[in-house]
Amino acid sequence: MPISKELLSSFKITKNNEIIIDQKITDKLLEIIKNKKRVAHSISVGELAYHIAISNHLDEPFLYFLAGLFHDLAKGLDKNQLIEYMENYYKEYIGLPLFSYHQFVGAKLTQEIFNIEDENILDAIMFHCTGKAKMSSMGQIIYAADKIDPLRGYDSSKMIEAMMNDYINGFKYVLSENRAFLIGKSGNDNSIENRLSKACFDYYLE
Ligand SMILES: [Fe+2]
Ligand SMILES: [Fe+2]
Repeated sequence: MPISKELLSSFKITKNNEIIIDQKITDKLLEIIKNKKRVAHSISVGELAYHIAISNHLDEPFLYFLAGLFHDLAKGLDKNQLIEYMENYYKEYIGLPLFSYHQFVGAKLTQEIFNIEDENILDAIMFHCTGKAKMSSMGQIIYAADKIDPLRGYDSSKMIEAMMNDYINGFKYVLSENRAFLIGKSGNDNSIENRLSKACFDYYLE
């Protein structure tokens, strides 16, 4: 299903492929996400995903921007609200770590608030945090762009460059760095022992 005209009219793309976002969208994002830093992160992930898509000659790069822009919509919800959404719409994913709930609920909010029905966008948002086996190009790019967003404050320039040159290899690079990070953080591989992340690492890295 196409993106509504009303939503499209909220963005302008300049000759240099910069996206200008209407103030009413950024206001809306702040109202939902409730935190300026997270809104800045969302915009940054959208822009990065957009430029990675262009640089890899993928079709409809603007859709990558939208997926990035909306990927963390559910970050403004509290635990009880997240659980309520999970019980209503995503029963099969209850039991995964709590940090992952916002990816599913984020897809639902993107649908509810911005009337986006594009399956590719919704799916990319739905697994941006855990990953999964057999991800679409958009799924891989949103997952990576989220992890290597320059606003995260560590030097991700090599990974960004890898994604720009060839997202298929770049994604595996980001994934292996992320796996090493997760194992390092916890001292064991418990933190990747949720079935989605495990399936993702097994599928792309083994
Ligand atoms: Fe997220
Ligand atoms: Fe994020």
